Parts: sequence; structure tokens; C-alpha cells
Amino acid sequence: MLVTGLEILKKAREEGYGVGAFNTNNMEITQAILEASEAKRSPVILAMSEGAIKYGGGYLARMVIEAARDARVPVAVHLDHGSSYEAVLRALRLGFTSVMIDKSGEDFETNVAETKRVVAAARAVGVSVEAEIGKLAGVEEHVAVDEKDALLTNPREAQIFAERTGIDFLAVAIGTSHGPYKGKGRPFIDHARLKEIAELLPGMPLVLHGASGVPQELVERINRAGGNLKGAQGIHPDDIRLAIQGGISKINTDTDLRLAFTAAVREVLMEKPEIFDPRKILGPAREEMKRVVMERIELFGSAGRA
Ligand code: G3H
Ligand code: 13P
Ligand code: ZN
Repeated sequence: MLVTGLEILKKAREEGYGVGAFNTNNMEITQAILEASEAKRSPVILAMSEGAIKYGGGYLARMVIEAARDARVPVAVHLDHGSSYEAVLRALRLGFTSVMIDKSGEDFETNVAETKRVVAAARAVGVSVEAEIGKLAGVEEHVAVDEKDALLTNPREAQIFAERTGIDFLAVAIGTSHGPYKGKGRPFIDHARLKEIAELLPGMPLVLHGASGVPQELVERINRAGGNLKGAQGIHPDDIRLAIQGGISKINTDTDLRLAFTAAVREVLMEKPEIFDPRKILGPAREEMKRVVMERIELFGSAGRA
């Protein structure tokens, strides 16, 4: 069933578990996310970036929303990293139940003003809004405190931002970054900063972008099957558990699905050179992504919460 993002995340924050926001770009990814969520009886967020909407068109967006409606668990369809008011309006028109406006690259006042406009539009049609404050960048442990401060979310600023904009959930920068290269060894996460933010914003669901685990087993399989992803590194499961305890409710995952997809496709094509039926190539990829989503759901603690 299709619900708003806030409906899913308010309960998650109150009860102290996390919900995955998994990025989709096609039918097989959508099916993998929904089948895994149904198998685990977990609420879920289907995220589509502007890039995904451009790639698949309104046609893909409508298919994703239809699939969410048919699902036997609560599903929100969410615009990931909306870059403008216009992009948000397009998503609202398509029927998304949650949107992100990402003006984190602008100065504080512009971020507030643009986010407020989006909140007014989304509120009018009952859609939830996420915004971001701070810069998502892999931050090394040894980096100087004032350098970290310049990039990562300032707790007091986060509180003022949330009050002034009226957003429903807030993405924070605490050391994670997008993609498969998040730092050497175990990437640094600023749990103390997260604790401060959560204390200043009681009840507000917080969002962790760049949260993929980058399972080394998948990286090795890709590299063995002709890929080149040397040095790929993700967020340790213990850091995800700690972050959820610290107030993170929405955990964005795209890279892990891309890795699962690529590992399965590379292996099938390498091991079965006689195959040319797309279903025999994409089917195993769907299964591999489903396995990854089920593992993430267990890690987030959202299994059985639907
Ligand atoms: O945070 C970004 C997501 O991984 C989506 O990436 O813009 O390439 O679709 P994309
Ligand atoms: P990953 O690249 O770590 O999967 O992060 C995805 C994300 O934050 C989407 O908004
Ligand atoms: Zn993101």
C-alpha cells in the first residue's frame, strides 16, 4: 500500500528502528526491493532520483507507484535529491508521496527559503518533505576539527533549519559519502555529532545518505568476473546500528544494489556464454538484489514492522 514517507518514518523514530530507502531505476530493482520487503514484512521507501526519472521517464515513475500500491507492506515513493522546486512539482504531479529538496550546496538562507517553498507545495497535497543540511563528503578520522565542522552538519543550525522550514525529516552529514569509495579501512562516522543533533530535534526522523555497506564479497565477485572496483569500502554494519540508536530512521542505499546487480550480471555472462535471453541475465540480478535488501532490512531492524 502506498503511504507517505512521514507515516513510515515517524513510527520508525518512535520505536527506534531504521527503514531502508532503496534507489530504483528499472523494473527488476523495483521488484527486488518490494519482494524483499514483503518477505520480511518490512515497510520500505522506494527512492527515485531525477536521474532515474530521466532514464525511465514518467512511465517508469508510474510503474513504480503502481507497484507500491499493489505491495502488501507500507511503501512510500520518494524523490531523492530533488534539485529544484520544479523537479519537486513534477514528482508531486506524478504521485510521489515523499520528496527531498536538496539545497545543501547553497548558503543557509537560500537553503531555508527554497525548502520552505517546497514544504508549502508538498503540504498542500499531503506529501512529506526531506531536506539536507551539511555537506556529504567522506571525512577521514585525522582531519582537523574545524575542517570537519565546515563540512558536517552543525547541530544548532540543524535545529534552526528544521524550525524555520517545517520539514518532516532531515538529512544530516556525519561523515558518509555517496558511492562505493567511502574511505580507507572503516570510514569515520561522527556519532557524537549525531547524538547532539538528535537531542536538539526530539522526534524528528533523521536521514543517513551514503549508507551502503559495500559488501566485500560482492566487490571481490565483480573483480573476479572482469570488473575493476579496487579499494571500494562502505559503512560498517556496527556504525549503521549505532546510527539508528542515535536517531537515524531513514537509511539510503543505492550502491549496494548496483554492486549486487553488477556481480550477478557479470557472473552469468562469464559462466554461461550461450545465454542471450534478457530474462536469464536480469533474473539472477534481481535475486541477488533481493538477497541484499533482505540483509539490509535485518540490519535496520525493520523486519516484522509492517
Ligand atoms: O544519491 C544518489 C543516488 O545514488 C542516485 O544516484 O543520481 O545516479 O541516480 P543517481
Ligand atoms: P550509497 O551510494 O551509499 O548507496 O548512498 C545512496 C544515497 O544516499 C541515495 O540518496
Ligand atoms: Zn543521497
